[in-house]
Amino acid sequence: MTTTPDLVLWVVVPYACLAVFAVGHFWRYRYDKFGWTTLSSQLYESRLLRWGSPLFHFGILAVFLGHVMGLGIPKRWTEAIGVSQALYHFTAVGIGAVAGFCTVVGMAILIYRRRTVGPVFSATTRMDKFMYLVLAVVILLGLSNTVAGNIIGHYDYREGVSVWFRGIFRFDPHPELMAQAPLTFQAHGLAAFLLFALWPFTRLVHVFSAPVGYLWRPYIVYRSREDRLGGGARRRGWDRVGERYRR
Ligand code: HEM
Repeated sequence: MTTTPDLVLWVVVPYACLAVFAVGHFWRYRYDKFGWTTLSSQLYESRLLRWGSPLFHFGILAVFLGHVMGLGIPKRWTEAIGVSQALYHFTAVGIGAVAGFCTVVGMAILIYRRRTVGPVFSATTRMDKFMYLVLAVVILLGLSNTVAGNIIGHYDYREGVSVWFRGIFRFDPHPELMAQAPLTFQAHGLAAFLLFALWPFTRLVHVFSAPVGYLWRPYIVYRSREDRLGGGARRRGWDRVGERYRR
């Protein structure tokens, strides 16, 4: 039987957070287009950033793809193409654990840098701190899911959490499935939805405007004044990404 708290936690809260996510991005884009940025602090410090940022970003990209597979693709589809439960879990846990580990190490470096490098700390807002806290909770709970669901216990989230998650987007939610899930899975899901509600009001909006070249080029392209001297007449306006950088 579905109780009122189950309905609130696993139906009302997710839809409310998704609504804030959608409307919040629209609002931010309309009213703060020029604040739509990573607020990069590469200018202040780059040694730690050079390690922390790729570890975190490549890690979280792999975690994201893992979630698309694990939450988005029904179990019967993978079984239909001959992927057994054992093979699926072996691959998911192996790749997921490495990706999760890289993400945690990268995030630890980024948080350490933010706290210990004076100018970076000074440029950290209250919202940044709250966002980092929620992000860290989501990621650590996610990793504890992998440990609790596969190593300690044997909860098959693809028959519970994943069905509930897809149901939300099909407007056919099954709160009872989340009510039966282990505590770390419940906490991870709830914290993730809180993060989605926070998303449009933080620097995380850069996820939707990061050009692909972002993974290889510096976060900010600095131009030296000398570059302009003797270089002939300078064209007005923006350069295409990478254009002047290649010279
Ligand atoms: C409501 C949305 C989400 C749901 C339902 C969800 C569900 C899950 C589940 C079931 C696992 C266990 C996977 C396994 O053992 O193979 C997991 C792991 C994990 N989750 Fe989530 N997740 C959500 C959002 C997020 C977000 C937004 C982040 C990060 C910002 C995140 C980070 C992680 C991490 C780091 C792991 C560890 C395993 C890995 O590396 O893939 N999750 N999540």
